[in-house]
Amino acid sequence: MAPSNSPAAGPSLTLSEEHRMLQQAARDFAQNEIQPVAAEFDESGKFPLETVKKMGQMGFMGIEVSEQYGGAGMDTLAYVLALEEICKVDAAHGTIMSVNNSLFCYALERFGTEEQKQKYLVPVASGEAIGAYSLTEPMSGSDAANMRSRAVRQDDHYVLNGRKAWVTNAPAADTVMVFTMTDPDKGHKGISAFLVDSDLPGFSLGKPEPKLGIRASATSEIVLEDIELPVSSRLGEEGEGFKIAMAVLDAGRIGIAAQALGIAESAYAASLQYAREREAFGQKIGQFQGIAFKLADMKTRIEASRLLMYQAALAKEASKGTDKRYTLEASMAKLHASETSMFCAHQAVQIHGGMGYSKELPIERYFRDAKITEIYEGTSEIQRLVISRLELDLR
Ligand code: CAA
Repeated sequence: MAPSNSPAAGPSLTLSEEHRMLQQAARDFAQNEIQPVAAEFDESGKFPLETVKKMGQMGFMGIEVSEQYGGAGMDTLAYVLALEEICKVDAAHGTIMSVNNSLFCYALERFGTEEQKQKYLVPVASGEAIGAYSLTEPMSGSDAANMRSRAVRQDDHYVLNGRKAWVTNAPAADTVMVFTMTDPDKGHKGISAFLVDSDLPGFSLGKPEPKLGIRASATSEIVLEDIELPVSSRLGEEGEGFKIAMAVLDAGRIGIAAQALGIAESAYAASLQYAREREAFGQKIGQFQGIAFKLADMKTRIEASRLLMYQAALAKEASKGTDKRYTLEASMAKLHASETSMFCAHQAVQIHGGMGYSKELPIERYFRDAKITEIYEGTSEIQRLVISRLELDLR
């Protein structure tokens, strides 16, 4: 269900021909390839490997990665435009795409050695392999630095042990970027990042996470049992892992803003159509102010989210090749878009009444899928913490 009335770009931005072509290609792909299977994969919770492989062939799994490393060589704006289109149709496919692009590939291109890029980035960016990012643990979510897993250095290798939780893509991933403690006495400065192949001895999947929404994006715990890794599998320097994790989440949060926006737009488009067609008490329900004003609020929040997302994408693009951070822009875009997504999905269910609650329409799926955008890659509370700390600058 494509939105009928969303501008291709906000007033402050004109999309290039290349951006429009990619946007259209993603829209067509989502309609033709994902739409027919979205409800089925949501129901079964199975990983949609076939469509994900096709997304790789389309270049959607490494949009910003330079062509020399198997990517499409486009910019952040291109990435969010494509992701938004995929998420208008199915947020679960969007989650798989966003983790691959803005967490795994971005981290490798920015912090990886040439050898690591050749070995891990090329296959994942080109869609031949799937990447995952693993920061969270059963006892650490928002307080990300408080982890119990360990990597102990022994001569020329590390031995990894522990349990990581909520790893998106884990059951399908070829390589997982794992953040773990190398020096517990140093707090966040004792965390390091590692590239762990899922076929290594000692790597196994733990509990699958039985989720409310984005059900087709497979998520599970991973268990690390005496995994031996050469030093060359460490991403960045020892002790640099937390900063890598945070810097990469800045990129990831812009992707979640795009995902949230896509869900919100579809919830809005369906509501608009329903309000024009459905009659009650002898008139179209859109003629009741109680419905019309909901639509006005949805539309306004959607367009505000779009501008914040564009601002964040442009800030990220401008930061490339520099040390400049775009944390504030990314957190504001994610916060506003995710709360807009939940707001719009909630209103859409209400406007549709019983039909909004029925599995005959995708509205209830939008409602279930929207919720995660306020939780993962930093809850709304964490985004408010990040934004206010940066603004107050009291520390
Ligand atoms: N970029 C670079 N460095 C950063 C940074 C950023 N965005 N944010 C913080 N840092 C640096 C700080 O400068 C600081 O460095 P120094 O020690 O040199 O001063 C260091 O990191 C520690 O920062 P803080 O003191 O701010 O750390 P904190 O522990 O107080 O709080 C937090 C940090 C913002 C709360 C952080 O823990 C956080 O973002 N938590 C949420 C975690 C999260 O988003 N998890 C989602 C997991 S991924 C996911 O959802 C799964 C998926 O597959 C989709």
